[in-house]
Amino acid sequence: MWCMPVRPFWSFLLCFSSLIHAYTLVNSYDYTNWFSSFAFQALPDPTAGFVDYVSEADAQSLGLAKIIGDKVYMGVDNTTIVSSDSTGRKSIWIESNESFLHGLLIGDFDHIPGGACGTWPAFWTIRNGDGTYGEIDIIEGFNDITQNYMTLHTGGACTFDPPADTETGTSNNGNTDCNLDSATGVGCSVIGPEQSYGTGFNDNGGGIYALEWTSSLIKIYFFPRDNIPADITNGTPDPTLWGIPTANFDSQYGNCDIDANFPAQTIYFDTTFCGAEAGGDAWTSWTDCSAVTGYGTCESYVAENPAAYDDSYWLINSVKVYQ
Ligand SMILES: *[C@@H]1O[C@H](CO)[C@@H](O)[C@H](O)[C@H]1NC(C)=O
Ligand SMILES: *[C@@H]1O[C@H](CO)[C@@H](O)[C@H](O)[C@H]1NC(C)=O
Repeated sequence: MWCMPVRPFWSFLLCFSSLIHAYTLVNSYDYTNWFSSFAFQALPDPTAGFVDYVSEADAQSLGLAKIIGDKVYMGVDNTTIVSSDSTGRKSIWIESNESFLHGLLIGDFDHIPGGACGTWPAFWTIRNGDGTYGEIDIIEGFNDITQNYMTLHTGGACTFDPPADTETGTSNNGNTDCNLDSATGVGCSVIGPEQSYGTGFNDNGGGIYALEWTSSLIKIYFFPRDNIPADITNGTPDPTLWGIPTANFDSQYGNCDIDANFPAQTIYFDTTFCGAEAGGDAWTSWTDCSAVTGYGTCESYVAENPAAYDDSYWLINSVKVYQ
């Protein structure tokens, strides 16, 4: 806001809203350009999941990736019984051609993978190529949990410990250290409210996840479908109107040089199975999946139960970058 005196009445000030910090759209990804904007990677899963990531051509011919009306669908193989000895169940891993540095990343989702035992889906960003390690996990969940995990991972020293009343999420088990080399290696991590993930998110008609990233802060906001700020819907997003973030990684509440730890980021989606976060101990102890499925291992359940994954799909309205 700036004000100027108007002659001859010096006591009268005419004020103008500042446009200096207004965000403008720099990239919009949706049904019109999805397949030319993201590369499908048929790579071995870097997170050691029980998964067979397929090429774009295979994803399209198998019906795992397609345009439905004006939405982008990306699912997993939910028809094939696969061998426990195989690489795993077919799924998708995609990365954006373009990277971005600072700004807003706003994803509008009608549906995200629905919290089935064995799944580990994510919407996330990471450094582009080599260089300083920096990763922002915006949507991430494991097995049948109902709340979203928002996490930063860094190669360098970086901590955030915001007061509880500065975010609507809650600290994930006190993990405030983002450094990959920290004692737990979990990353600095915040758990979203109920219905921020899985079936609860989907039953509400989905919603929006927005990342705000500047040199001094990284904030993640979750808005359910019935509570999306008008400025986002109107295409004139203004984070000052969004209230308390869901996860607040503000450098005033920690010890982190954000620009030193987070270089330009590339946008990723993937849905994996089992691996470090849904298999092993996650299967048998910290989620109830072993008990509710009756399967001793994540891999055997995922291999034998394709119909368990009817709901493990992304249905995306748009992903937009503003700067
Ligand atoms: C994005 O990358 C894919 C795969 O490398 C390529 O086919 C496509 O042409 C690229 N699109 C743009 C817009 O650069
Ligand atoms: C697989 O899941 C999709 C939704 O992602 C559903 O439309 C389809 O009917 C399912 N296939 C089978 C064979 O149940």
